[in-house]
Amino acid sequence: MARVLVVGGAGLLGQYVIREARARGHEVVGTHRGPLPASGGWVSLDLRDVGRIASVVDEVRPGLVVNAATLTDVDGCEARPDEARTVNALAAGALAEAARRAGAGFVHVSTDYVFDGSGPATEATSPNPLCVYGATKLEGERLVLAAHREAIVLRLSAVFGWNRMSAKTNAVTWILERLERGEEARLFSDQRLTPTYAATAAGAAFDLWGSASRGVFHVASRDCLSRVEIGRAVADAFGIKHPRITPVTMSNVPLVAKRPAAPCLLVRKVEETLKRDMPGFRTCLDDMRATR
Ligand SMILES: NC(=O)c1ccc[n+]([C@@H]2O[C@H](COP(=O)([O-])OP(=O)(O)OC[C@H]3O[C@@H](n4cnc5c(N)ncnc54)[C@H](OP(=O)(O)O)[C@@H]3O)[C@@H](O)[C@H]2O)c1
Repeated sequence: MARVLVVGGAGLLGQYVIREARARGHEVVGTHRGPLPASGGWVSLDLRDVGRIASVVDEVRPGLVVNAATLTDVDGCEARPDEARTVNALAAGALAEAARRAGAGFVHVSTDYVFDGSGPATEATSPNPLCVYGATKLEGERLVLAAHREAIVLRLSAVFGWNRMSAKTNAVTWILERLERGEEARLFSDQRLTPTYAATAAGAAFDLWGSASRGVFHVASRDCLSRVEIGRAVADAFGIKHPRITPVTMSNVPLVAKRPAAPCLLVRKVEETLKRDMPGFRTCLDDMRATR
């Protein structure tokens, strides 16, 4: 059993990491910004205050730090590039450095947006981010790996699951909410992704740490799907009879940040390391439905 510090514990992935850690018998401390949840087990940390990071890690004395915090607003990163770099890159590096000095393991979470999306990507594919979000996440990966030689970096794609702590939606619940209300969901037909179920990522984080793995791993479902196909699969899995899905192309929607077209993550490395297959998208949706 270890004490696990989950940075960004109230985010979607952070919530799943906390649940997985507890299920495996670990003690958990989550970081949160803003008023702390009443449930206990939280410390306050705003990553824009990079100078406070080391003292928080020293206070908690973790055996493992999982960094699930990020400025995930892709368009917001274009508007606030300095904040994006501080949170996504400099704070990530400072967390890794503090974890190493504390003798703790480190799992950092990154994104498929480090790629330009010109085709499916393995861990050996050269990154080429198209937007500030992707560029700052790539810098974060590099700072983490330079600061902590045993660090694990998980690259995820279109993270989804049940958000039990806020109304913020994700790649699946945004579609589901609209379709269940009978509203139209306008979805890209020309962006293909390998959506990552937050439960899959949380399990992989602990399994990789437990197997003393290090370096970069792609963690995603096995299916490379357009947003329209994602929408149809959601409608099917949740039994929505007449889903109002309207295909649109990225070029027809005013987007601030440029998005990669098909940054599908190939997952063979994590499958070979953990000796098990990553799940299909439909399997993940069925689990979501069962855990609603
Ligand atoms: N969402 C996706 O589709 C997606 C795709 C690929 C990879 N990923 C990666 O997956 C990881 C987890 O993302 P997620 O989907 O769980 O996103 P999320 O629900 O938006 O969670 C992000 C967390 O980071 C926190 N955060 C942001 N700025 C912060 C700051 N200055 N100080 C402290 N905490 C801060 C947020 O807190 P507040 O609520 O207070 O802002 C939130 O708890 C990230 O590394 C992301 O890059 C996500």
